[in-house]
Amino acid sequence: MTLPEPKLSPPSVRTAELSIVELIGNTPLLKLRKIVPANPRVEILAKAEWYNPGGSIKDRPAWNIIQEAERSGRLTPDKTILDATSGNTGIAYAMIGAACGYRVTLCLPLNANEERKSLLRAFGAELVLTDPRQSSDGAILKARELFAANPDRYFYADQYNNPANWQAHYASTGLEIWRQTGGRITHFVAGLGTSGTFMGVGRYLRHVAPHVKLVSMQPDSPFHGLEGMKHMETAIVPGIYEPSLADSALEVGTEDAHTMVKRLAREEGVLVGISSAANLVASLKLAETLDEGVIVTIFCDNGDRYLSDRFWEEETGDPAI
Ligand SMILES: Cc1ncc(COP(=O)(O)O)c(C=O)c1O
Repeated sequence: MTLPEPKLSPPSVRTAELSIVELIGNTPLLKLRKIVPANPRVEILAKAEWYNPGGSIKDRPAWNIIQEAERSGRLTPDKTILDATSGNTGIAYAMIGAACGYRVTLCLPLNANEERKSLLRAFGAELVLTDPRQSSDGAILKARELFAANPDRYFYADQYNNPANWQAHYASTGLEIWRQTGGRITHFVAGLGTSGTFMGVGRYLRHVAPHVKLVSMQPDSPFHGLEGMKHMETAIVPGIYEPSLADSALEVGTEDAHTMVKRLAREEGVLVGISSAANLVASLKLAETLDEGVIVTIFCDNGDRYLSDRFWEEETGDPAI
């Protein structure tokens, strides 16, 4: 039997012999087809950050923090990487730590979701679970306490205060967005966690294109379900956060973000996390105020990590046979 010649697609740039950390960055820019602004002259594009090997945008700052610490001599092979993280940065540290031969200890709230904890353990990280009532702030206080008690043992990465966090986005995320839009971007929308994404991309865009408007997004209340996001008025404010960089700020409610997670999955086939959906809700709100424009936002991570969240159960359920 003669087989047809296989139709080969052109060879990818990523051929062979790459280490896992070399897969960080260079993520695609996605255009949604159905969940779009009513005004056709306004376009929304989203950076598909779950394409990073650790599954989230946080691979970028974690890798830059580790490289910078190696260069400055603060991280040596005998040290354990320590930080507070609600999940994604921890997964990035755990993955990179495993790849580079470092032990990793992470402080995170006891109620962080199970998928995240399992992923962290899968990469061999040690978990220190903190009081869920204090949310991510409780984890920050615990990491500070561990470091103060044993400063020689740990490299305290301190993503909330480490400039290598936002600098990662300045050097990579911001540059990629500028290039991928061919300079067409008019607005950048991103939620605030450590604020590294917003500060880094924002400063890069200010530098190359001062006319681009920078819009930050926050949860609309202190008790919210936008995992990874901070309600700055009531939280420990990250040292790297500089509110004056934003041209304007938008707030998003948890329920609106949950509804958008489901819509993105079912109407676009894009299964992303809650902060990504919140970024899209904010971008659509912004779009309503514009005559024309190209809004770029961030889809921070993949929705697989949130499948055990209760909002998925608020459904009629599958029919019984
Ligand atoms: C799911 C998720 N989205 C968004 C962010 C926010 O990113 P940044 O810390 O750069 O503000 C985080 C940060 O931890 C996160 O975990």
